[in-house]
Amino acid sequence: ALSSTGTEERTLAMIKPDGLSGNYTDQIKIIILESGFNIVSEKMFQLDAESAAIFYAEHSGRSFFPSLIKYMTSGPVYTMILEKSDAISHWRALIGPTDARKAKVTHPNSMRAICGSDSQRNCVHGSDSPQSAAREISFFFGELSTGISTHDEL
Ligand code: TYD
Ligand code: MG
Repeated sequence: ALSSTGTEERTLAMIKPDGLSGNYTDQIKIIILESGFNIVSEKMFQLDAESAAIFYAEHSGRSFFPSLIKYMTSGPVYTMILEKSDAISHWRALIGPTDARKAKVTHPNSMRAICGSDSQRNCVHGSDSPQSAAREISFFFGELSTGISTHDEL
């Protein structure tokens, strides 16, 4: 399952600490498989503040950043490399809008509507572009990840 064909695309999916503590992992994985994704690889990690800050570096200047890092290090995360054609946009569509509170109104069937709470505790992550997907996959699964971070594989 580690090889891919030409039309396939890969994205990084993550069940965040609130998704794990709320026991949504099995339900989310069923949706993933029923939606036609291949789970290429999957791992649980405990992020520390340094690695969470690297993962969300693009948001480092935002007012919510300290609280985001606290949330992302509050418990383990479950990461998956998902593969199918148009995996990046398909996974983003399935998870729904960033703000889970709004998602419950505008996208009630989305994952964030089902298992998220607000604009921070939104249960799941998905890469937003091919560049992000490459960076995030290598952050958790690639050779590079051991050099740039201190997150512990569980
Ligand atoms: P963002 O990249 O805007 O959303 P997405 O996860 O949909 O790509 O933000 C990244 C994460 O930062 C988001 O999932 C949760 C957190 N965040 C907050 O804590 N507060 C906020 O107001 C926003 C916009 C994001
Ligand atoms: Mg984003």
